[in-house]
Amino acid sequence: MSNFYTMKYDDGVLTVLDQTLLPTNEVYIELKTVQDVYDAIKRLSVRGAPAIGVCAAYGLAISARSRINGDIGIMLSGIKQDAAYLSSSRPTAVNLKYALDRVLDVLCSMSGSYTPSDIIAAIEVEADRMRCEDANTNRNIGENLLSLLHDGDTVLTHCNAGILATTAYGTALSPFYLAKEKGIDLHVYADETRPLLQGARLTAWELCEAGVDVTLICDNMAASVMSTGNINAVIVGCDRVAANGDTANKIGTYGVAVLAKHFGIPVYIATPTTTIDMNCPTGIDIPIEQRDGSEVRTLYGVNTAPSCVKVLNPAFDVTPNELIAAIVTEHGILRPPYSQSLANLFNNPTHE
Ligand code: MRU
Repeated sequence: MSNFYTMKYDDGVLTVLDQTLLPTNEVYIELKTVQDVYDAIKRLSVRGAPAIGVCAAYGLAISARSRINGDIGIMLSGIKQDAAYLSSSRPTAVNLKYALDRVLDVLCSMSGSYTPSDIIAAIEVEADRMRCEDANTNRNIGENLLSLLHDGDTVLTHCNAGILATTAYGTALSPFYLAKEKGIDLHVYADETRPLLQGARLTAWELCEAGVDVTLICDNMAASVMSTGNINAVIVGCDRVAANGDTANKIGTYGVAVLAKHFGIPVYIATPTTTIDMNCPTGIDIPIEQRDGSEVRTLYGVNTAPSCVKVLNPAFDVTPNELIAAIVTEHGILRPPYSQSLANLFNNPTHE
């Protein structure tokens, strides 16, 4: 489907496409220590909720391999410590904690006598499983989103919820790849997504690579573009969906949703169920990552503001559930009231 990959794991080495260098340089870097994995997630070489989850799971395989010569008890407690460390790299996307907990659960459930090599194998199997599940999940999300669109539609998206943010297809971008496969004509407007330009650098890049018709706009053009009447839907990914449907996604999503409401355009949230946090009652309870001010003061290392100016740099905002027309998962399409439809989903995932 694509000529690049987000990540590949082989024999204790996780190779990732360094997304900080796109679109100008397509460089793969090798992550060989837990510190490498932490740093890659923190500086956004690997980013996007599902991708950082799977990446962290492989990080625990790397952790286990580094402890192969130790006592089993010490090995397990070291892996646990590394899981807590990796989990602290970025606080908003719940997929990170989900993936790490899933690996730790596998280790907890191991019984009988086992060796350090068995532990490594169990972690690698679980991480591989999550990577495969991600691809299937995203394809299903794409099919469900496609059922909400029509041939010829134009969709606006924000940030990057594509192949680069996952391991295959993406979530919000999945319908465009599927449409391409099926000969359905869809058009995309991509917000550039300040301050780190994931829309310009990543969404525009991967859609161009795939031959999807994409037009890049500055964030402040969204109202003007929507006012033309040519946008049929907004589709975005997310980092955490609260139990009432409030949704955290890249900073600026809230503004796009307010505009969409004004123009009567439906906002669809593309989410794997692993991004839904039923332990988080509302959006207020979602931790929002604050990033360094230098990301706003500079562009490619060049000052675009006085270096002394105070800066606010939240990486995400929360779109209130009343601005969301549907939450689209791999299992189906959820409609308001979300407290009810999300609860139904978790009580009976295949029959929401
Ligand atoms: O800071 P980023 O680039 O990791 O933010 C990514 C997003 O906000 C994505 O929209 C979200 O993680 C969904 S990815 C399928």
